[in-house]
Amino acid sequence: MKILILFAHPRLSGSHVQRALHDAVRDLPGVTFHDLYAAYPDFTIDVGHEQSLLLDHDLIVLQHPFYWYSAPAIIKEWLDLVLELGWAYGPGGDKLHRKFLKNAISTGGAEAAYRRQGRNRFDITELLSPFNQSAHLCGMAYLQPFAIFAGRWLTGEDLSIKTSDYQGLIEGLRDGHIDPMTRLAKGYTLPLAFEEQRLQKKRHAT
Ligand SMILES: Cc1cc2nc3c(=O)[nH]c(=O)nc-3n(C[C@H](O)[C@H](O)[C@H](O)COP(=O)(O)O)c2cc1C
Repeated sequence: MKILILFAHPRLSGSHVQRALHDAVRDLPGVTFHDLYAAYPDFTIDVGHEQSLLLDHDLIVLQHPFYWYSAPAIIKEWLDLVLELGWAYGPGGDKLHRKFLKNAISTGGAEAAYRRQGRNRFDITELLSPFNQSAHLCGMAYLQPFAIFAGRWLTGEDLSIKTSDYQGLIEGLRDGHIDPMTRLAKGYTLPLAFEEQRLQKKRHAT
């Protein structure tokens, strides 16, 4: 599977956790790593280029620190401009059908804080639901997020274990050792685009 990692960190020089993840996957063969803040320091996103990158990949990973219970601003700008009506969704908007979307995030808060009874009141999958639903609207499968909680408090050894987990996950998905359909976000209902594909295959088989 062809993987596109859209990386967003507005202050990479001060990054600890995302820097480790960045270094682990940036040069992986067969994976396209695209640093949005480096490519577009003034936020002038090249929509045509971004759309052609999307067309050329199967799995899109949004890799970023968790900021204000969401993503750094350039991810929102990217979503607003690149996922156009009639291209990504709406009438004729089928270009992302049957592709996969996943968030790979790091948080400041501990996992225990991301609970109903915890300080942040919602779990991480609930807070990421705008990405989940955006994927659904675009006919994509949304995979369970990869998250490193309270990464800055981890020991060097624990951070490197989690970093290798992330690298292994990306490599496993790339090489087909991990079936993305077994990694759907909890409770995710596949959009119709996948059902149509299944019915088509069935028709061809009979
Ligand atoms: C502007 C800003 C907003 C943040 N918002 C959150 C947040 O909503 N929830 C959270 O757990 N951590 C939040 N954090 C902490 C970062 O997620 C955390 O420091 C980062 O993931 C660590 O990765 P890094 O070392 O690559 O920067 C925020 C940090 C900044 C600077």
